[in-house]
Amino acid sequence: MKTKILEINSKRIDLAKIKLAAEEIKKGNLVAFPTETVYGLGADALNEKAVAKIFQAKERPFNDPLIAHIADIKELYRLSQQVPPVAIKLAKVFWPGPLTLVLKKSKLVSGIVTAGLDTVAVRMPEDNIALSLIRESETPIAAPSANLFGRTSPTTAQHVTDDLDGKIEIIINGGKTKVGVESTVLDVTVEPVRVLRAGGISVEKLKEVVGQVKISKELKEGFRSPGMLNSHYSPQAKLILVENKEETKIEEVRRLASKYMTQGFKVGIMAKEENQNKYGRFEVKVIGKGTELEVCAANLFTILRSFDKEGFEIIIAEGLKEHGLGLAIMERLRKAAAPK
Ligand code: TXA
Ligand code: MG
Repeated sequence: MKTKILEINSKRIDLAKIKLAAEEIKKGNLVAFPTETVYGLGADALNEKAVAKIFQAKERPFNDPLIAHIADIKELYRLSQQVPPVAIKLAKVFWPGPLTLVLKKSKLVSGIVTAGLDTVAVRMPEDNIALSLIRESETPIAAPSANLFGRTSPTTAQHVTDDLDGKIEIIINGGKTKVGVESTVLDVTVEPVRVLRAGGISVEKLKEVVGQVKISKELKEGFRSPGMLNSHYSPQAKLILVENKEETKIEEVRRLASKYMTQGFKVGIMAKEENQNKYGRFEVKVIGKGTELEVCAANLFTILRSFDKEGFEIIIAEGLKEHGLGLAIMERLRKAAAPK
């Protein structure tokens, strides 16, 4: 299959191109498209055969459920017949945006989307390209991140091409994604609501709206959340996360870098801007200022992929503060660092 690339500017949507992509969705084919978080690999969420193609193209196991993307809040009531008031409250504040709500599913939603669970994950993305694609397709779009299973999520169309060229009909190139980490996944079937995956909306922001928010135990411990396998977010290089306190962090990063370099590995360091000059002869990529965690989140996956592209074998990553988007960053770094 020859993958077609459609260049679309999200500030001046070319509706003819969107319609072309929507035709493929209607036909039951796959279209990769930008969202504000990461690129998604989309198919008609109500067409089982189309959804199956997503798993095939990504080489993703069927036990990992997908998010259904909508462009109109009315669709939420079609996908779930039990929409609790807290879901509406959150949707009003954060949609369109990087928050995914997990609710009881309706009969309309097939088990292939939910991996057999009786809940469905739903989100309204903020990106204009994503929204108009969903509208023109006239159906919710099921979309995981548009990477091969186990790889880091794509934040540019080039990343999608690197993983899925020749396997899908269309890739819409809408430039680099803004948020850079995936949406926050929030279970609203329980009280208090529970974060299953940290992401683009911070726990602090959720608390401002709903008061109490629980964080899933798995997330705190750096293990998998339901349906999330440990190999997620992994670069091909071995990643070592240094979570030491500030006073000893630089020393530890240097020690590890020397150790692996002596063993003959190509070693890279991912550091905060404040520390970039502290690693002398080592190769350093800067994730951003430690105080600008939103910038760090936007850069995270791009940096991990560029280490891979440049053939690094070992990445030593400085840990970041765990407030705001720092929690989402650290969750992904811990997963990447987990033994495979
Ligand atoms: O930002 C995002 O969320 C991106 C863009 C494309 O929207 N999508 C994304 O999809 O990250 P994916 O498939 O890579 O991650 C979806 C996460 C998985 O961890 C999955 O386990 C969880 O959502 N999930 C989906 N349905 C669920 C459900 N019914 N219950 C619990 N977790 C669910
Ligand atoms: Mg993913």
